[in-house]
Amino acid sequence: MSDQLSTDHLLGIRELTAEDIELIFRTADGFKEVLARPIKKVPSLRDITIANLFFENSTRTRISFELAEKRLSADIINFSSSSSSTKKGETLVDTVNNILAMKVDMVVMRHPDPGAAVFLSRHVDARIVNAGDGTHAHPTQALLDAYSIREKLGRVKGVRVLIVGDILHSRVALSNIQCLNKLGAEVMLCGPTTLMPRHVESLGVKVTHDLDKALKWCDVANMLRIQLERQGSDGIANFPSLREYAMLFGLDGERYRRIGKDIVIMHPGPINRGVEITSEVADSGASIILDQVENGVAVRMAVLYLLAGKISRAAR
Ligand code: CP
Repeated sequence: MSDQLSTDHLLGIRELTAEDIELIFRTADGFKEVLARPIKKVPSLRDITIANLFFENSTRTRISFELAEKRLSADIINFSSSSSSTKKGETLVDTVNNILAMKVDMVVMRHPDPGAAVFLSRHVDARIVNAGDGTHAHPTQALLDAYSIREKLGRVKGVRVLIVGDILHSRVALSNIQCLNKLGAEVMLCGPTTLMPRHVESLGVKVTHDLDKALKWCDVANMLRIQLERQGSDGIANFPSLREYAMLFGLDGERYRRIGKDIVIMHPGPINRGVEITSEVADSGASIILDQVENGVAVRMAVLYLLAGKISRAAR
């Protein structure tokens, strides 16, 4: 068993091996123990400086990374595009290189453009962690989701995971599919045809448009957020109304009870309550939504710790 990641950056799940993911999970197990102590802090990244660059809105991911970095004793810089010189026309590479000139070791970046993290990793001299790039990838969300399934059910291999909703616009769905496939779970997607990517079968998943049947099939249902801000970006209205979407693809208490067995309910957040999921289900005993958020800190600590281990001492 290796104690090193096979990659120097976390750009997407595609670049990780199953062994990398298992290593991240084992490392996160250790950090979960740290987070249960009265003093929730270790000195592991005392000599590391991390810049958190958020060019797109975020609540969970931004706070979770910041907390993970503080728990590891890293020095941190927080940058948000709304109050920066990117508004004056500065390029992404210039912005990041100016920040790196102040001796930054790692960059955690959220960006609206797919591929932004890969682009940055090729142009700047720092470890890059993708905190979500457009509709492309959200690797730490997929890792914390799979970690939460493992924690709840004791395994990921062989678990039947249903991902419901706006697959077309979802970086969470794509990263989850890749992560779950690597770990040996079975994955089914469910949603309107207009919210499925083209060539979806090539992703190695089952596809259905019948939510009630899909819910009976699964052990875990991950109810994705309808990405209201991205609907119609291609000039097409993706569904007639939120009311109709909620009737066909939303999960409420009555639909949950009709399944006739217990399943685990997940949601990456932020939730459109009453659209993809009602409060009755989101706040029920079947839901592990807040466990996902809690686990995000330990999983992100693990990712940062393992990537920092790949920075040579001389370079620090
Ligand atoms: N799940 C997730 O990425 O949430 P935020 O957009 O709030 O970071």
